[in-house]
Amino acid sequence: MSITIEKVTTDSELRDVAELADKIWHECFVDIISRGQIDYMVGKFQSYEAMTKQTAEQDYSYFAVREDDELCGYFAVKPENDERFFLSKLYLRSDKRGRGIASMMLKRVFEEAENCGKKKVYLTVNKHNDHAIEVYKKTGFVIAAEAVTDIGSGYVMDDYILEYAL
Ligand SMILES: CC(C)(COP(=O)(O)OP(=O)(O)OC[C@H]1O[C@@H](n2cnc3c(N)ncnc32)[C@H](O)[C@@H]1OP(=O)(O)O)[C@@H](O)C(=O)NCCC(=O)NCCS
Repeated sequence: MSITIEKVTTDSELRDVAELADKIWHECFVDIISRGQIDYMVGKFQSYEAMTKQTAEQDYSYFAVREDDELCGYFAVKPENDERFFLSKLYLRSDKRGRGIASMMLKRVFEEAENCGKKKVYLTVNKHNDHAIEVYKKTGFVIAAEAVTDIGSGYVMDDYILEYAL
């Protein structure tokens, strides 16, 4: 296998990531949140329009993960104004999981954070997303706090905040 992880730089790449995001979200969150909330959150955070705004106005960067040139995952990061680096998304297509690709993705996240001079990576994860939490803990993240966030339309995100010291 040949895995590449590259920053998304073109509009068409961002469209491809949005299409993949829609698929992964509807597959991986069905047991955790309602279909209505998945649709709402994809529209608000992971649609092409939302991601364009994040990259153009909010300092987010998206990275595309490809195996043999086929897009199969992505993550998004954002440097904060303090010592922290925000890992905003980390998603891998289900048929590519359990093969070490996630660890490669997280290693790249840490490199990007270090290149920005940051001391800490943090993320939010749904409290019921057991597998992702195990992966993060195994990598060295620790639970720093809990957060219930109102995201509108009657939906909330019920999350842990995890931190990794670089
Ligand atoms: C989260 C996600 C990217 C992880 O990818 P993955 O392929 O499932 O992860 P892996 O199974 O390769 O596990 C990554 C590492 O954690 C370890 N790990 C996995 N499950 C573990 C467990 N229960 N206990 C301890 N370690 C565990 C693995 O051994 C692996 O380490 P290694 O690479 O050193 O061997 C992927 O599951 C995914 O896209 N999930 C759906 C989307 C999602 O929930 N994203 C997170 C949102 S915050």
